[in-house]
Amino acid sequence: MQKGLHYFDYLGLDKILSAQELESDKFNKHAHDEMLFIITHQAFELWFKQVLFDVDSVISLLSQQFVPEKDISICYQRMGRVKQILTFVTGQFEILETMTPLNFTDFRNFLNPASGFQSFQFRLLETKLGLPNDTRVNKHFENALKTEDLQLLESARNSHSLFSAIEQWLENMPFLQLNTYSFSEEYKQTLLAMIEKDKEYAKELIESPEEYEKRIQQIDQLKESFLSLFDETLYQKHIEEGSRRLSFKATQAYLFISLYADFPLLQLPFLLLQTVIEVDNALSVWRYHHFKMVSKMIGRKIGTGGSSGSDYLLRTVSAQRVFDDLGSLASFLVARDTIPTLPEEIAHQLRFAYEIK
Ligand code: HEM
Repeated sequence: MQKGLHYFDYLGLDKILSAQELESDKFNKHAHDEMLFIITHQAFELWFKQVLFDVDSVISLLSQQFVPEKDISICYQRMGRVKQILTFVTGQFEILETMTPLNFTDFRNFLNPASGFQSFQFRLLETKLGLPNDTRVNKHFENALKTEDLQLLESARNSHSLFSAIEQWLENMPFLQLNTYSFSEEYKQTLLAMIEKDKEYAKELIESPEEYEKRIQQIDQLKESFLSLFDETLYQKHIEEGSRRLSFKATQAYLFISLYADFPLLQLPFLLLQTVIEVDNALSVWRYHHFKMVSKMIGRKIGTGGSSGSDYLLRTVSAQRVFDDLGSLASFLVARDTIPTLPEEIAHQLRFAYEIK
């Protein structure tokens, strides 16, 4: 036999390949599809492990007081991988769906009270991404976890999450203020000009006085929400009401990066932030496919973990999102040709140093 490291041992396949014990067999009621059910869950959990491993490293890189450019590149690559994994594993629900709902009834009763609620890695992932506990649809999910897992979850909650690390990194971004230049003042004027133009268009295009009045009201509402971006007191009210989470300063920095993303120095931060939004979307898509699969398998039956089942899962799709504050800022972007020109001193710092002028 060949000496040295062996494939089988390196991958711990003795443990992994002997970890499929069918409950139906224990009751002498062999259910063929239970093997698929177990292996699908195990494959998901293995991928969750990889996702946590990558997210953890990104959190620790972004939590540094100063984040070097090369680390942004690493974070971008790793978050891209996280997005690919989440998208890939979502496709695996289709394999599980080759089991018919009736085949599932062959062994479902043997699984009680085991449930996806007990997936510690999934809870840890939500927490590490930065999902606040008070926005959870089910605040009692923790009853399902083991005591040692709860302690780990608590310690994750008291450390940086991806959300808080990104917030801190954005807050540390320079360029928003220089001598008499203030990004927020400049951009506010641009947005107000855009609003006035929208009102002029409405006057030209809408004939019915009632429709016109309605449109003006809509535009004024939009103006109110625009202005809150540039007034810290107004913004704070949105935070208190829970309609915004990302700090005032971090929001300004994200807006700046989105508007001036064509400058070399901002390209990578922009791509990283877009990828973070995509990871949030990929997790929602996971939740939605899981919900669709569950409603196909068990209809409106309650879950083995005691939730309302598919109703509960559907509500988590839109309620349990982490980075909506970033995604929603697209409403505040103006047309490229109206973006205010940056003072040369700032523009210069955002170009590659070797650029020939
Ligand atoms: C026939 C297949 C499946 C059915 C019928 C099913 C059913 C359910 C139900 C009803 C819940 C809500 C909690 C409860 O009351 O039990 C749930 C939660 C969950 N399931 Fe599944 N599930 C299936 C497959 C999977 C797979 C393959 C995974 C992959 C890891 C998974 C992971 C989870 C997770 C993480 C939760 C917690 C979600 C949350 O609270 O947001 N499930 N599942």
